[in-house]
Amino acid sequence: MSLLEKIDKNNVPKHVAIIMDGNGRWAKKQGKLRIFGHKNGVKAVRASLEAAVKSGVRNLTLYAFSTENWNRPQIEINALMELLVDTINSETKTLNENKIRLYAIGNLESLPKKCQKKLQEAIDNTAQNDKLNLILALSYSSKWEITDAIKKICKDAVSGNIKTEEITENTLSQYLNTSKFPDPELMIRTSGEQRISNFLLYQLAYAELYFTETLWPDFREEDFYSALLNYQQRERRFGMTSEQITQ
Ligand code: IPE
Ligand code: IPE
Ligand code: MG
Repeated sequence: MSLLEKIDKNNVPKHVAIIMDGNGRWAKKQGKLRIFGHKNGVKAVRASLEAAVKSGVRNLTLYAFSTENWNRPQIEINALMELLVDTINSETKTLNENKIRLYAIGNLESLPKKCQKKLQEAIDNTAQNDKLNLILALSYSSKWEITDAIKKICKDAVSGNIKTEEITENTLSQYLNTSKFPDPELMIRTSGEQRISNFLLYQLAYAELYFTETLWPDFREEDFYSALLNYQQRERRFGMTSEQITQ
């Protein structure tokens, strides 16, 4: 029985979020430049998309570039931005063939103009697709996102569009970049690091966290299925007792 067949189709997370980490170390192990790792990371993105479609996951968020990543050497930033444009160019056709709709979250205005343009084109060109939402987190950080949401809420409160006493947890969710998507039930991080790195802090409040030693460029369909199977073995209690969940 393959790993995919072992997955309970009635208990697949609606939303999986991935911190794609370890590209630099993967390249270094082979005596190559870091960008070689980033380029090979595209294979893992393809594999994850394939696995998400086959297993029935409807939303997949990939952390591709964080706010903090702007502090990397300029040469690496430039190479990553170029890779983003090239990948969008080469993959849009495949996205359409597989009915995958592209979204982006993050401070997109801080991306180079060319990236913004290509990204918007791909978002528009895939808008008719409905099998899987691929959400790219670009120039994203959760603290930025929450701060931005609070600014917008304050503006709407001052202008009388919302009443302060009517603000709920749901209001905040509605002002986040992820308002269209359910909160991720599963967060995967590759490369052995066990931290969140400013990713979806609010949305991951009750997510199951899965850490694997696999470096991102080596991540394949089977690794995705292993994470789903591990998720399916967990008891999600949401503050209740085990007895309440199982009866
Ligand atoms: C993840 O791989 C990709 C990005 C953050 C853009 P890294 O580049 O962080 O690789 P390591 O962690 O240095 O191995
Ligand atoms: C997190 O990876 C960001 C992305 C995967 C885009 P990093 O490699 O930047 O994270 P830290 O700084 O080691 O936590
Ligand atoms: Mg890293």
